Amino acid sequence: MTKELFKGSIMFGPVPAVLVTTIDKEGKPNVFTVGWTGVACTHPPLVTIAVRKERLSHENISASGEFVINLTTREMLKMTDFCGCRSGRKVDKIKHFGIELEPGADIKTPSLKKSPVALECKVRSVTELGSHDLFVAEIVRNKVEKTLIDQNNTIQMGQAGLLAYCHGEYFTLSRQPIGTFGYSVARKSVRQARHQKKFQQKKVKKS
Ligand SMILES: Cc1cc2nc3c(=O)[nH]c(=O)nc-3n(C[C@H](O)[C@H](O)[C@H](O)COP(=O)(O)O)c2cc1C
Repeated sequence: MTKELFKGSIMFGPVPAVLVTTIDKEGKPNVFTVGWTGVACTHPPLVTIAVRKERLSHENISASGEFVINLTTREMLKMTDFCGCRSGRKVDKIKHFGIELEPGADIKTPSLKKSPVALECKVRSVTELGSHDLFVAEIVRNKVEKTLIDQNNTIQMGQAGLLAYCHGEYFTLSRQPIGTFGYSVARKSVRQARHQKKFQQKKVKKS
């Protein structure tokens, strides 16, 4: 490959385009789109979201100390884009889209019924960085759509049709995995066993 040079900027992706739910001081919910989200630590399970100060969501998260990261799917594309283009200060996005909410399990903030995976988060710290403030939060509960859990209690994320965002465009992830963790270094027999396991699961699911 022959590279051209650009000035440093966030030319980075794909990232998940998630919908983050929050509540205000009175408990009124709001939802907004976040691309600048990331994994910070496995134990404890820490994630980050970078939020501009002017967002209603920034105000809500700062007041409540919690939020929910709702993973999005192809079916949620329009909602995801809209919630990232209109502020809850001007539009009640939940009413506008008739978005169905479900109550929080371990926190007060509700999650989106349509989302296949919702991560309930409690804020650990906030760091001012410049355009965005970085919220580091602990995932205190995961809610997972039942149909994504197979008979071995494994979550088949590939089946969710998750949305990704890259350089101003939305994409969906293929429902067919093209590799599994460690496959490049696994012994042939292990690779074959894993492949067979996946194949058998698909056959069971189809029938
Ligand atoms: C794909 C996408 C990704 C976005 N990512 C972020 C983000 O990471 N941080 C942020 O502060 N705003 C982000 N936005 C913009 C906010 O979602 C948008 O300003 C929203 O209207 C804020 O809503 P609120 O005022 O109701 O909180 C994103 C928008 C889109 C469409």
